[in-house]
Amino acid sequence: MCFFSGVLYGWNRNGFIWLTDAALRVTMTITWRRVEEVLAGLPAGSTVSLRGWIWRTRSSGNIVFMTLRDVSGVIQATVKRGNLPDAEFEAAEKALIESSVELTGEVKEDKRAPGGFEILARSIHVVNFAEPYPITKDQSPEFLLDQRHLWLRSRKLTAALKIRSTVVGAIHQFFRDHGFYEFDAPVLQPNQCEGGSTLFEVKYYQDKTFLSQSWQLYAEAGVFALEKIYNVGPTFRAEKSKTSRHLSEFWMAEMEAAWMDLHDITEIAKDEVRFVLGQVIEKNAADLTVLERDIEALRKLSTAKFPTITYTEALEVLRTKAGMEVEWGKDLRTIEEDEVMKFFETPVVVTNYPVEIMAFYKPPDPKDPKTALCFDMLAPDGYGEIIGGSQRSTDIAYMSERLRQMGEKTDNYQWYFDLRRYGSVPHAGYGLGVERLVAWICHAENIKDAIPFPRTLLRFRP
Ligand code: 4AD
Ligand code: MG
Repeated sequence: MCFFSGVLYGWNRNGFIWLTDAALRVTMTITWRRVEEVLAGLPAGSTVSLRGWIWRTRSSGNIVFMTLRDVSGVIQATVKRGNLPDAEFEAAEKALIESSVELTGEVKEDKRAPGGFEILARSIHVVNFAEPYPITKDQSPEFLLDQRHLWLRSRKLTAALKIRSTVVGAIHQFFRDHGFYEFDAPVLQPNQCEGGSTLFEVKYYQDKTFLSQSWQLYAEAGVFALEKIYNVGPTFRAEKSKTSRHLSEFWMAEMEAAWMDLHDITEIAKDEVRFVLGQVIEKNAADLTVLERDIEALRKLSTAKFPTITYTEALEVLRTKAGMEVEWGKDLRTIEEDEVMKFFETPVVVTNYPVEIMAFYKPPDPKDPKTALCFDMLAPDGYGEIIGGSQRSTDIAYMSERLRQMGEKTDNYQWYFDLRRYGSVPHAGYGLGVERLVAWICHAENIKDAIPFPRTLLRFRP
């Protein structure tokens, strides 16, 4: 705050400057506009105040051409000596990219400017003069990951993160609208859920425990109280593979419901994905454009029917259409998932995988006991599995045997088996990989671009 020629200047946290003449007690507020509001067509000639960061800048003689970036977009601003105090012009001339600025000027229509409008600056205040920015053109992906804290500002990442925010918000809304309660599980868990080989071990005082691989086992306790529950939470897998689909830390959106079977949950999963797509189209059209994603294609998907096939039928597709033989009983690897999906334009639910290769809690299908009452949802365009789920076994002996085969101590699972001992009911649930879904919606090259700070086999910094 400062006092200058009888006027008190201040910056208010809500985002406007106030100016108070101490004697007159007059308060004037500045309305900060967003770039998108100007590009949406504020009347030419109107005066606007914007604040953001310098995205590009060059000067020639008495004129500085800069592009200003804020969360909503970029706009060109022309700063001409003579149109504003000399000191402000010189500050603008000196300011490097990523300097933060507040700028007031007139809106001018300019067909050549990106977005069709530019601002003729009448005043500029450089809030922070940035040091030379380390990120320049054409840097390696590894360098950009080292600079992630700065690279987040890139237009594509900003767009993807805005879409991610819509996706997570839509998931919460979807489940709440359908009568589900949000339910939290511990992140520190003594048991495996999806196989011991991807557990992250944590020192726990004098003991050891693991980071959550899934919310599911605790959710199965929760449904006996709340019946229909969901969660979006951090999930950890020590994935030993370096693929464009695997993170070591990711966010899983899971649901679990009492009295539901496999068919019920596959229908909910389809509705959930369509709802999320609808929300993204409604809220993120500009971001999809930045990412060069075909909005019409997504719009069609948001109301499309998603087919359900069995694992055995998927092998048939591979054999007859792709000339690919996969032995019955083998899991579908990335290349096989991608090959199957070449024959579908929408996500596809694949049910009844071989029971042998499935997690211990997936029950055999009474109609076809060598397969399990489980499903994956596969996304088109080479994005693979986005959801995995199943009906849950209620057979303690069966699950104990499966756990023993995996070398697990069944003692640790007695609390879980209690759920089958006291008023057991059929129940089912699934988990959706938030980053897998976001990566597919954005058509990201790598899942790392669907999360702010990716953790992978080779990286846990910054
Ligand atoms: O298929 P998964 O392993 O299923 C489960 O964990 C179940 N317990 C969920 C449940 O029934 N409640 O994982 C579910 C989804 C996958 O379909 C995938 O989208 C995502 O989580 N996922 C990963 N995403 C990023 N990186 C990884 N390493 C992932 N592993 C799984
Ligand atoms: Mg899976």
